[in-house]
Amino acid sequence: MLQNEKVCFSGVQPSGNLTIGNYLGAIKNFSTFSSEYRCFYCVVDEHAITVRQVPADLRRRTYETLALYMACGLDPEKNTLYVQSHVPAHAELGWILNCFTMFGELSRMTQFKDKSARHADNVNAGLFTYPTLMAADILLYQTDIVPVGIDQKQHLELARDIAGRFNAIHANTFTVPEPYMAKTGMKIMSLADPTKKMSKSDENANAVIYILDDRDTIIRKFKRAVTDSGSEVRMGEGKDGINNLITIYSAFTGKTVEEIEREFDGRGYGDFKLAVGEVCADALTPVQTRFAELLADKAGLEQVMKTGAETAARAAYRTLNKVKKKLGFVV
Ligand code: TYM
Repeated sequence: MLQNEKVCFSGVQPSGNLTIGNYLGAIKNFSTFSSEYRCFYCVVDEHAITVRQVPADLRRRTYETLALYMACGLDPEKNTLYVQSHVPAHAELGWILNCFTMFGELSRMTQFKDKSARHADNVNAGLFTYPTLMAADILLYQTDIVPVGIDQKQHLELARDIAGRFNAIHANTFTVPEPYMAKTGMKIMSLADPTKKMSKSDENANAVIYILDDRDTIIRKFKRAVTDSGSEVRMGEGKDGINNLITIYSAFTGKTVEEIEREFDGRGYGDFKLAVGEVCADALTPVQTRFAELLADKAGLEQVMKTGAETAARAAYRTLNKVKKKLGFVV
């Protein structure tokens, strides 16, 4: 790693089919960092097993997530693309950071509370310590910036606290990372219940637009999106459904809310829903075409994973060795 080179890190779990929430909140923004930062984008399979996975599905989605990274514009020559379990330093630092994270801190994580309520039969220790592994992912690379959706903000704050605590005890060891959240797109809501985040684990497929949904499906789902009983395309209090659709339209087109309100003045919700579906399908079609090509070349994806893991491991072990020395481990 060059001295003074800024580092960007982010990860996506291969735990379900990726949605436009993952796309607009995270992946779409990843490539904007490639020219100014040294970028590491990881498929975080170790995080995914905090919830039971069907092994064959997890394996398939790991390839798919990597292919989607590339289909969304991440060039493996300019970004380090890899799979978390291929770099054991993540799990190793994760353990160490568990010893620098308080039970009370982990108990306060809203995602833990949500997921343990949803998976009451499997509130495992990994689900609880998930944020320390996430902190390890980030801190291993001396990361400056982490592009994520707003749902990860609390985990990022904890990663900052852990880094600060370790640095205070063992002198400067970790860079304290900053979150980057896209102004438009950091919180895409469900189409069926717009007070809830759009999530890849939602059981209702109509609540979610998957990146790989075909054009007709996308348009049909937007047509059915839950909105209030009004008809004016305007942002407003208590209009969660329409606010979400305006946000999605804005994120895909780059138009401001005012421009959108003007464009649809007097045209009603039906027209607007169709337009949102069309801009979304237009943006995703080239991603889907590229994705299919990449996925057909499994050996090519494996080569990317392998090269990525080697590059990531070199950077990761530099930090891990420093940490071990500071702790008093014999290295
Ligand atoms: P995950 O896999 O749930 O989501 C991947 C990324 O997509 C963002 N996102 C959203 N953004 C806007 N609106 C939504 N509805 C929406 N849903 C998801 C997430 O914020 C995330 O940026 N814990 C992470 C994975 C992770 C990670 C990391 C991220 C593990 N280690 C280190 C950054 C750095 C997660 O579960 O993301």
